[in-house]
Amino acid sequence: MRIVESIARMQQLTRSLPRPVVLVPTMGALHEGHLALVDHAKKLVGRKGSTVVTIFVNPPQFGPREDYRKYPRPFKRDCLLLQNRGCDLVFAPTAANMYKPDASVTVMESQLQTVMCGASRPGHFVGVCTVVTKLFHLVQPDIAIFGEKDFQQLTILRRMVRDLNFPVRIVARPIVREPDGLALSSRNVFLSAEERQQAPLIHQALRDAENKLRLQSVSLRALENLIRRRIERASRAKVDYVAVVDPDTLQAKEPRNLPVLLAAAVFFGSTRLIDNVLVK
Ligand code: PAF
Repeated sequence: MRIVESIARMQQLTRSLPRPVVLVPTMGALHEGHLALVDHAKKLVGRKGSTVVTIFVNPPQFGPREDYRKYPRPFKRDCLLLQNRGCDLVFAPTAANMYKPDASVTVMESQLQTVMCGASRPGHFVGVCTVVTKLFHLVQPDIAIFGEKDFQQLTILRRMVRDLNFPVRIVARPIVREPDGLALSSRNVFLSAEERQQAPLIHQALRDAENKLRLQSVSLRALENLIRRRIERASRAKVDYVAVVDPDTLQAKEPRNLPVLLAAAVFFGSTRLIDNVLVK
Protein backbone atom coordinates (compact mmCIF):
# COMPACT_ATOMS: atom_id res chain seq x y z
CA MET A 1 0.00 0.00 0.00
CA ARG A 2 1.39 3.39 -1.01
CA ILE A 3 1.11 6.36 1.35
CA VAL A 4 1.27 9.69 -0.43
CA GLU A 5 1.40 13.07 1.29
CA SER A 6 2.54 15.28 -1.52
CA ILE A 7 -0.06 16.85 -3.79
CA ALA A 8 2.33 16.90 -6.76
CA ARG A 9 3.09 13.19 -6.28
CA MET A 10 -0.62 12.37 -6.08
CA GLN A 11 -1.28 14.25 -9.31
CA GLN A 12 1.56 12.38 -10.98
CA LEU A 13 0.34 8.98 -9.74
CA THR A 14 -3.26 9.69 -10.72
CA ARG A 15 -2.30 9.46 -14.39
CA SER A 16 -1.02 5.90 -14.08
CA LEU A 17 -3.38 4.34 -11.51
CA PRO A 18 -5.03 1.19 -12.88
CA ARG A 19 -8.74 1.87 -13.52
CA PRO A 20 -11.38 1.87 -12.27
CA VAL A 21 -10.22 4.08 -9.43
CA VAL A 22 -12.58 3.94 -6.45
CA LEU A 23 -12.17 6.65 -3.83
CA VAL A 24 -13.22 6.56 -0.18
CA PRO A 25 -12.76 10.06 1.28
CA THR A 26 -12.33 10.05 5.09
CA MET A 27 -11.05 12.19 7.92
CA GLY A 28 -9.27 9.19 9.43
CA ALA A 29 -9.92 7.77 12.92
CA LEU A 30 -11.24 4.83 10.98
CA HIS A 31 -13.86 2.44 12.33
CA GLU A 32 -15.77 -0.51 10.87
CA GLY A 33 -18.13 1.92 9.12
CA HIS A 34 -15.24 3.33 7.07
CA LEU A 35 -13.73 -0.12 6.58
CA ALA A 36 -17.04 -1.40 5.20
CA LEU A 37 -16.75 1.37 2.57
CA VAL A 38 -13.23 0.19 1.76
CA ASP A 39 -14.45 -3.43 1.46
CA HIS A 40 -17.10 -2.24 -0.96
CA ALA A 41 -14.51 -0.24 -2.90
CA LYS A 42 -12.41 -3.42 -3.22
CA LYS A 43 -15.42 -5.22 -4.62
CA LEU A 44 -16.04 -2.47 -7.18
CA VAL A 45 -12.43 -2.25 -8.39
CA GLY A 46 -12.25 -6.00 -9.00
CA ARG A 47 -8.83 -7.42 -9.75
CA LYS A 48 -7.68 -4.65 -12.04
CA GLY A 49 -8.53 -1.31 -10.45
CA SER A 50 -7.28 0.80 -7.55
CA THR A 51 -8.77 1.56 -4.14
CA VAL A 52 -7.75 4.99 -2.88
CA VAL A 53 -8.55 6.23 0.63
CA THR A 54 -7.96 9.86 1.55
CA ILE A 55 -7.28 10.80 5.15
CA PHE A 56 -7.61 14.52 5.72
CA VAL A 57 -9.12 16.40 8.64
CA ASN A 58 -10.44 19.34 6.69
CA PRO A 59 -10.25 22.63 8.66
CA PRO A 60 -12.90 24.62 6.71
CA GLN A 61 -15.68 22.17 7.52
CA PHE A 62 -15.27 22.76 11.27
CA GLY A 63 -16.85 25.80 12.92
CA PRO A 64 -14.76 28.02 15.20
CA ARG A 65 -16.13 26.36 18.33
CA GLU A 66 -16.06 22.81 16.96
CA ASP A 67 -13.66 19.94 17.54
CA TYR A 68 -11.04 20.43 14.77
CA ARG A 69 -8.10 20.47 17.17
CA LYS A 70 -9.18 17.51 19.25
CA TYR A 71 -10.47 15.41 16.34
CA PRO A 72 -8.66 12.02 16.71
CA ARG A 73 -5.73 11.44 14.32
CA PRO A 74 -4.43 7.88 14.84
CA PHE A 75 -2.65 7.93 11.48
CA LYS A 76 -0.41 4.87 11.90
CA ARG A 77 -3.29 2.75 13.16
CA ASP A 78 -5.47 3.92 10.25
CA CYS A 79 -2.77 2.94 7.74
CA LEU A 80 -2.42 -0.52 9.31
CA LEU A 81 -6.18 -1.07 9.17
CA LEU A 82 -6.26 0.02 5.52
CA GLN A 83 -3.33 -2.17 4.61
CA ASN A 84 -5.08 -5.17 6.19
CA ARG A 85 -8.20 -4.41 4.14
CA GLY A 86 -6.23 -4.38 0.90
CA CYS A 87 -6.32 -0.65 0.15
CA ASP A 88 -3.90 0.29 -2.65
CA LEU A 89 -3.15 3.93 -1.90
CA VAL A 90 -3.63 6.35 0.99
CA PHE A 91 -3.54 10.04 0.17
CA ALA A 92 -3.00 12.13 3.30
CA PRO A 93 -2.06 15.71 2.48
CA THR A 94 -1.32 18.36 5.12
CA ALA A 95 -3.73 21.25 5.68
CA ALA A 96 -0.97 23.73 4.78
CA ASN A 97 -0.50 22.03 1.40
CA MET A 98 -4.23 21.77 0.69
CA TYR A 99 -5.02 25.42 1.42
CA LYS A 100 -2.83 28.40 0.55
CA PRO A 101 -3.15 31.17 3.16
CA ASP A 102 -4.93 33.39 0.59
CA ALA A 103 -7.17 30.64 -0.90
CA SER A 104 -10.34 32.38 -2.05
CA VAL A 105 -12.31 29.91 -4.17
CA THR A 106 -14.96 27.66 -2.63
CA VAL A 107 -17.75 25.40 -3.85
CA MET A 108 -21.20 26.10 -2.46
CA GLU A 109 -24.43 24.19 -2.86
CA SER A 110 -27.10 26.70 -1.99
CA GLN A 111 -30.41 24.89 -1.29
CA LEU A 112 -29.93 21.56 0.42
CA GLN A 113 -27.42 23.06 2.85
CA THR A 114 -29.91 25.51 4.38
CA VAL A 115 -31.55 22.88 6.63
CA MET A 116 -30.59 20.23 9.21
CA CYS A 117 -26.79 20.09 9.82
CA GLY A 118 -26.25 22.97 7.41
CA ALA A 119 -28.49 25.21 9.53
CA SER A 120 -26.70 24.22 12.77
CA ARG A 121 -23.21 24.32 11.30
CA PRO A 122 -22.95 27.39 9.02
CA GLY A 123 -20.24 26.96 6.38
CA HIS A 124 -19.84 23.24 7.06
CA PHE A 125 -21.04 22.04 3.67
CA VAL A 126 -19.07 24.70 1.79
CA GLY A 127 -16.03 23.17 3.48
CA VAL A 128 -17.16 19.66 2.52
CA CYS A 129 -17.99 20.52 -1.12
CA THR A 130 -14.73 22.42 -1.56
CA VAL A 131 -12.53 19.65 -0.18
CA VAL A 132 -14.37 16.88 -2.03
CA THR A 133 -13.98 18.88 -5.26
CA LYS A 134 -10.25 19.16 -4.58
CA LEU A 135 -9.97 15.45 -3.77
CA PHE A 136 -11.87 14.55 -6.94
CA HIS A 137 -9.48 16.71 -8.98
CA LEU A 138 -6.42 15.24 -7.30
CA VAL A 139 -7.43 11.56 -7.40
CA GLN A 140 -9.75 11.62 -10.47
CA PRO A 141 -11.81 8.65 -9.30
CA ASP A 142 -14.34 6.84 -11.45
CA ILE A 143 -16.44 6.11 -8.35
CA ALA A 144 -16.54 7.69 -4.88
CA ILE A 145 -18.16 5.97 -1.90
CA PHE A 146 -19.86 7.76 1.02
CA GLY A 147 -21.72 6.46 4.06
CA GLU A 148 -25.43 7.12 4.58
CA LYS A 149 -24.89 8.28 8.17
CA ASP A 150 -24.07 11.75 6.79
CA PHE A 151 -27.20 11.62 4.67
CA GLN A 152 -27.30 15.35 4.02
CA GLN A 153 -23.65 15.31 2.94
CA LEU A 154 -24.40 12.49 0.53
CA THR A 155 -27.40 14.34 -0.93
CA ILE A 156 -25.42 17.56 -1.32
CA LEU A 157 -22.46 15.79 -2.95
CA ARG A 158 -24.77 14.04 -5.41
CA ARG A 159 -26.20 17.44 -6.31
CA MET A 160 -22.71 18.91 -6.67
CA VAL A 161 -21.62 16.09 -8.98
CA ARG A 162 -24.79 16.52 -11.04
CA ASP A 163 -24.69 20.31 -11.26
CA LEU A 164 -20.95 20.63 -11.89
CA ASN A 165 -20.74 17.59 -14.22
CA PHE A 166 -18.07 15.69 -12.33
CA PRO A 167 -17.32 12.43 -14.17
CA VAL A 168 -17.67 10.52 -10.90
CA ARG A 169 -20.33 8.02 -9.85
CA ILE A 170 -21.37 8.42 -6.22
CA VAL A 171 -22.13 5.18 -4.39
CA ALA A 172 -23.88 5.21 -0.99
CA ARG A 173 -23.46 2.53 1.66
CA PRO A 174 -25.61 1.79 4.72
CA ILE A 175 -24.86 2.89 8.28
CA VAL A 176 -22.83 0.41 10.34
CA ARG A 177 -24.02 0.15 13.95
CA GLU A 178 -22.83 -1.15 17.32
CA PRO A 179 -24.83 -4.15 18.57
CA ASP A 180 -26.95 -1.75 20.69
CA GLY A 181 -27.82 0.35 17.62
CA LEU A 182 -25.48 3.30 18.07
CA ALA A 183 -24.22 4.41 14.65
CA LEU A 184 -20.44 4.08 14.38
CA SER A 185 -18.72 7.45 14.43
CA SER A 186 -15.17 8.66 15.01
CA ARG A 187 -16.69 10.97 17.62
CA ASN A 188 -18.07 8.12 19.77
CA VAL A 189 -14.67 7.98 21.55
CA PHE A 190 -15.46 11.37 23.11
CA LEU A 191 -18.53 10.00 24.96
CA SER A 192 -18.31 9.42 28.73
CA ALA A 193 -19.45 6.00 29.99
CA GLU A 194 -22.85 7.45 30.90
CA GLU A 195 -23.25 9.25 27.57
CA ARG A 196 -22.22 6.10 25.68
CA GLN A 197 -24.88 4.16 27.56
CA GLN A 198 -27.57 6.69 26.63
CA ALA A 199 -26.51 7.38 23.03
CA PRO A 200 -28.30 4.36 21.42
CA LEU A 201 -31.55 6.12 22.33
CA ILE A 202 -31.16 8.21 19.17
CA HIS A 203 -31.48 5.15 16.99
CA GLN A 204 -34.23 3.65 19.17
CA ALA A 205 -36.25 6.87 18.87
CA LEU A 206 -35.90 6.89 15.08
CA ARG A 207 -36.83 3.19 14.88
CA ASP A 208 -39.88 3.70 17.15
CA ALA A 209 -40.98 6.53 14.90
CA GLU A 210 -40.56 4.33 11.85
CA ASN A 211 -42.67 1.60 13.46
CA LYS A 212 -45.38 4.08 14.41
CA LEU A 213 -45.37 5.46 10.89
CA ARG A 214 -45.82 2.00 9.42
CA LEU A 215 -48.75 1.19 11.75
CA GLN A 216 -50.81 4.37 11.63
CA SER A 217 -51.18 7.73 9.98
CA VAL A 218 -49.19 10.31 11.91
CA SER A 219 -48.48 13.96 11.18
CA LEU A 220 -45.05 15.46 10.60
CA ARG A 221 -45.23 17.49 13.84
CA ALA A 222 -46.43 14.53 15.92
CA LEU A 223 -43.63 12.37 14.56
CA GLU A 224 -40.98 15.02 15.23
CA ASN A 225 -42.29 15.47 18.78
CA LEU A 226 -42.31 11.75 19.37
CA ILE A 227 -38.65 11.44 18.31
CA ARG A 228 -37.60 14.50 20.29
CA ARG A 229 -39.39 13.43 23.50
CA ARG A 230 -37.98 9.92 23.28
CA ILE A 231 -34.40 11.17 22.85
CA GLU A 232 -34.82 13.70 25.65
CA ARG A 233 -35.50 10.82 28.05
CA ALA A 234 -31.72 10.50 28.09
CA SER A 235 -30.61 12.88 30.85
CA ARG A 236 -27.36 13.78 29.01
CA ALA A 237 -28.97 14.40 25.62
CA LYS A 238 -29.62 17.83 24.14
CA VAL A 239 -31.46 17.66 20.83
CA ASP A 240 -29.97 19.90 18.13
CA TYR A 241 -32.62 19.06 15.54
CA VAL A 242 -35.10 16.41 14.55
CA ALA A 243 -36.10 16.30 10.89
CA VAL A 244 -38.80 14.47 8.97
CA VAL A 245 -37.95 15.23 5.35
CA ASP A 246 -38.07 14.15 1.76
CA PRO A 247 -34.78 12.28 1.16
CA ASP A 248 -34.16 13.99 -2.19
CA THR A 249 -35.02 17.60 -1.40
CA LEU A 250 -34.46 17.51 2.41
CA GLN A 251 -37.61 19.64 2.74
CA ALA A 252 -40.01 18.91 5.60
CA LYS A 253 -42.59 16.43 4.43
CA GLU A 254 -45.82 15.01 5.83
CA PRO A 255 -44.91 11.36 6.29
CA ARG A 256 -48.08 10.01 4.64
CA ASN A 257 -46.15 9.48 1.41
CA LEU A 258 -43.02 7.42 1.56
CA PRO A 259 -40.07 7.56 1.24
CA VAL A 260 -39.32 9.79 4.19
CA LEU A 261 -36.05 10.42 6.01
CA LEU A 262 -36.13 10.57 9.82
CA ALA A 263 -32.98 12.30 11.04
CA ALA A 264 -31.63 13.72 14.27
CA ALA A 265 -28.57 15.50 15.63
CA VAL A 266 -28.03 15.31 19.37
CA PHE A 267 -25.41 16.71 21.72
CA PHE A 268 -24.09 14.52 24.50
CA GLY A 269 -21.98 17.06 26.38
CA SER A 270 -19.93 18.71 23.64
CA THR A 271 -20.10 15.65 21.36
CA ARG A 272 -22.55 16.04 18.53
CA LEU A 273 -23.92 12.78 17.09
CA ILE A 274 -26.09 12.35 14.00
CA ASP A 275 -28.20 9.45 12.86
CA ASN A 276 -31.03 8.71 10.45
CA VAL A 277 -33.47 6.09 9.24
CA LEU A 278 -34.79 6.06 5.70
CA VAL A 279 -38.35 4.77 5.63
CA LYS A 280 -39.08 3.43 2.17
O1 PAF B 1 -17.57 12.43 5.82
C1 PAF B 1 -16.41 12.82 6.04
O2 PAF B 1 -15.59 12.18 6.70
C2 PAF B 1 -15.98 14.18 5.49
O3 PAF B 1 -16.99 15.10 5.54
C3 PAF B 1 -15.37 14.10 4.08
C4 PAF B 1 -16.40 13.63 3.06
C5 PAF B 1 -14.18 13.15 4.07
C6 PAF B 1 -14.88 15.48 3.63
O4 PAF B 1 -13.92 15.98 4.50
